[in-house]
Amino acid sequence: MKPHGNNLFLQSKYNVTAFFYDILDYPWERVYRKWRPTLVGDLRGKVLEAGVGTGRNLEFYHEDVDLLGIELSKQMLSKAEKRIKKAKCKVRLINEDATLMKSIDSNQFDWVFSTFMCCVMPDEIQNLALDQFGRVLKEGGRFRLLEIVYSKNKKIRKRQELFAPFVEKVYGARFDRNTLRYIEQSPTLKVEKTSFLKDDTYLLIEGIRV
Ligand SMILES: C[S@@+](CC[C@H](N)C(=O)[O-])C[C@H]1O[C@@H](n2cnc3c(N)ncnc32)[C@H](O)[C@@H]1O
Repeated sequence: MKPHGNNLFLQSKYNVTAFFYDILDYPWERVYRKWRPTLVGDLRGKVLEAGVGTGRNLEFYHEDVDLLGIELSKQMLSKAEKRIKKAKCKVRLINEDATLMKSIDSNQFDWVFSTFMCCVMPDEIQNLALDQFGRVLKEGGRFRLLEIVYSKNKKIRKRQELFAPFVEKVYGARFDRNTLRYIEQSPTLKVEKTSFLKDDTYLLIEGIRV
């Protein structure tokens, strides 16, 4: 799979990060692990998970899910493949760029789901991924995205600013992506609900394909 030009850098970053991703992410994963069952537990039908990473969500999908997981980095994907055996549902994982989705047919998914993918995507290509979400979702299909954003609380923000260079260097992630704004401007995706899972930093964006 040849990614979008802007994603070549991110792809090579994650091909390296993959080797120590789970270890580095461990302190955060201890928190995320409590959220993941609820985040995917009510999804049913055909689900597209974008940016599956090392496959941390796989074990929590309901058995009635038919899951297609896409991932930019082959090395991350191979870590995720090892977690397929933990899944209760049908899983297919492919190396695919969420901003292109060349191998994926339109109007077929009941859900598009993603955790911490848009916050690693440069702002200038986020619309490409959102257009693809709208294309592959059925009309009336739903999306749920968990992203990390800057807090309005000075103390928390200061801590985030301290971590920001590390987070960007290792994960390509930034706290100042404008994903919510882009979805609000999307012609095909309608935001129905936003909420925070912790403080005002872990932003859950949910909505429907109109
Ligand atoms: C911060 S990690 C999160 C991984 C996983 N979703 C989780 O919750 O642990 C972001 C993942 O998104 C993937 N990714 C970034 N841009 C992508 C794109 N355009 N298409 C597919 N995957 C992408 C990265 O390779 C990486 O594995």
